[in-house]
Amino acid sequence: MSLLDIADLTIGIPRGRATPLVIVENASLRLQPGEMLGLIGESGSGKTMLCRSLIGTLRRRGAAILSGRITLAGTDLAHTDEHAWRDIRGRRVGYVPQSALAGPNPVMTIAAQLREAILQGTPGTDVPARARELLDLVQIRRPERVLDQYPHQLSGGMRQRVMIACAIAGTPELLVADEPTTGLDVTVQAGIMQLLRDIRARLGTAIILVSHDLALVDDVCDRILVMHAGACVESVPANAAPRHPYTIALNRSRIELAEPGAPLLTIAGQPPSVGDWPPGCRFAARCSIAQPDCGLGPHPPLRGEAHANACLHPERAA
Ligand SMILES: Nc1ncnc2c1ncn2[C@@H]1O[C@H](COP(=O)(O)OP(=O)(O)OP(=O)(O)O)[C@@H](O)[C@H]1O
Ligand code: SF4
Ligand SMILES: [Mg+2]
Repeated sequence: MSLLDIADLTIGIPRGRATPLVIVENASLRLQPGEMLGLIGESGSGKTMLCRSLIGTLRRRGAAILSGRITLAGTDLAHTDEHAWRDIRGRRVGYVPQSALAGPNPVMTIAAQLREAILQGTPGTDVPARARELLDLVQIRRPERVLDQYPHQLSGGMRQRVMIACAIAGTPELLVADEPTTGLDVTVQAGIMQLLRDIRARLGTAIILVSHDLALVDDVCDRILVMHAGACVESVPANAAPRHPYTIALNRSRIELAEPGAPLLTIAGQPPSVGDWPPGCRFAARCSIAQPDCGLGPHPPLRGEAHANACLHPERAA
């Protein structure tokens, strides 16, 4: 059985009597226990909103689940009230929020931040012992010293390790890390990626890793879910050749594939904005193989199991 099953999930901003502003439409994904999934897509494609639906914080952005299902090991997360979320958030689902580097409370020591996370994740625990254990787990040396420090006294990489320690304090089944390496330099990024792999290996945690970096997720994840303008367009096993024209274009624009001296390949145009989605496939205006039927009807759904694709003309894509 899947650990996480998201089916036809639509997220939007309710607007009273007016039609809600849809931000994510008919998203579907399945995650096995211990699986590591990369979630990629251009800015504004709905990655963070999808993540927020897994920890019950959509409302803080004025958003809500409009339809669809989210099931975490038998628990319905799509119809969970705030009281029930308190038993899930931090305990069953850990979260490293986007911009977590700016996130740690600047006036709280690391010990105080970990204490909060530990009491939320595993009430009744010996807090100081668990705090040291968590810092050890995220491979922070000299934990005693770090515990007394404030976030501004730590490097970006160390701060991110502390945020990850807070997110796994309750030994969740699922860890959602929203762009945990953005803003860090390349070697520090590699260390954080290795840490996530170690956590998965040691604790069996399933991980959703949000990133803009296709090469990075290809390297560390088992599978990649690609979003474009609020829709899931491809679910592709890592290192498999992509089949959706958008993923193919993302793959071709990878910086490490650029020829020395040659201009970088980019994807022409911009994704359509929320509230301004055209009918049919939302990639059509940017797609070099678009056909007349691509702009008709609803957005094409993901089709397929191990390698799912939402393109209507996969045979033309190469
Ligand atoms: N309260 C809101 N009202 C209107 N639009 C919103 C609201 N919150 C988010 N959006 C829009 O929803 C879209 C998806 O936002 P989201 O933060 O999920 O994108 P993302 O894929 O995480 O982007 P990034 O890579 O920049 O983090 C964006 O276009 C955003 O502007
Ligand atoms: S459905 Fe049509 S427009 Fe969309 S990616 Fe496939 S070929 Fe391109
Ligand atoms: Mg985001």
